[in-house]
Amino acid sequence: MVVSKPRDARARYGVDGPPILLGLAGVVVVALGAGIWVTAGLGVVWGWIPFAVAGAMLLWGGFHLYATLRGKFEVWTGLLEELCLGGDEQILDLGCGRGAVLLMAARHLTTGRAVGVDLWRWVDQSGNTIEATERNAVVEGVRDRVELRTADMTDLPFPDEQFDVVLSSLAIHNIKADGGQRRAVEEALRVLRPDGRLMIVDIEAVGSYQRWLLERGAGDVRRRCLGWRMWWGGPWLATSVVTAVKRAERPGTR
Ligand SMILES: C[S@@+](CC[C@H](N)C(=O)[O-])C[C@H]1O[C@@H](n2cnc3c(N)ncnc32)[C@H](O)[C@@H]1O
Repeated sequence: MVVSKPRDARARYGVDGPPILLGLAGVVVVALGAGIWVTAGLGVVWGWIPFAVAGAMLLWGGFHLYATLRGKFEVWTGLLEELCLGGDEQILDLGCGRGAVLLMAARHLTTGRAVGVDLWRWVDQSGNTIEATERNAVVEGVRDRVELRTADMTDLPFPDEQFDVVLSSLAIHNIKADGGQRRAVEEALRVLRPDGRLMIVDIEAVGSYQRWLLERGAGDVRRRCLGWRMWWGGPWLATSVVTAVKRAERPGTR
């Protein structure tokens, strides 16, 4: 499929978790209506409660919107700089969606290649299609370095040890099938070449990713919190990064 660069072009990356934002907007509308109704009937003594609920939901939505529209990009800019890419790497992005991280990584490449796999689920990201990601790659000027594949990250269509760097942003927690998240982490390690680097950014089960990587013999496994710019509502839904290196197998350890 060939897409030519549209005039007036601007890359569009959608929002993460659109049903959550829709749900919050619904609660705000209902709470505001209830606030007006209760205040009219019972006065401000009780009327402030639904207004407080509306305010809390607005704050939650504000953090979520900031994280998805700005925070994620700011944080990943720093994380990609930390990788000190040489430009010739083969990079894989698991659950690339509309390409927010994949295309940023591709900008660090010269002769290398950035491959994104995804199932393009709209519940996880608005407007999530392979065509939208391809259009963004064209707009960002990196289409020649980017390859997109429709594939499940729990069963990657790549041979062992093909990639220098494997990335994943906010995607593995979306796997709900039993054992699926662990399979995704193991697949990430399988397709990494020895001494290749892994960087997973996610919410929820990040401590488990760290444990599974250690159990699989990954080296230099570290985890840290990424701060308020990636709070999905508040500190109770914060984002962390796990980094690891695939250890080269010593002879006789298989
Ligand atoms: C919240 S979005 C994040 C997208 C992108 N990484 C980013 O940071 O903008 C999560 C992505 O994971 C994808 N996804 C969920 N389960 C998947 C699976 N089993 N295999 C591949 N992709 C998956 C969804 O389609 C979605 O694009």
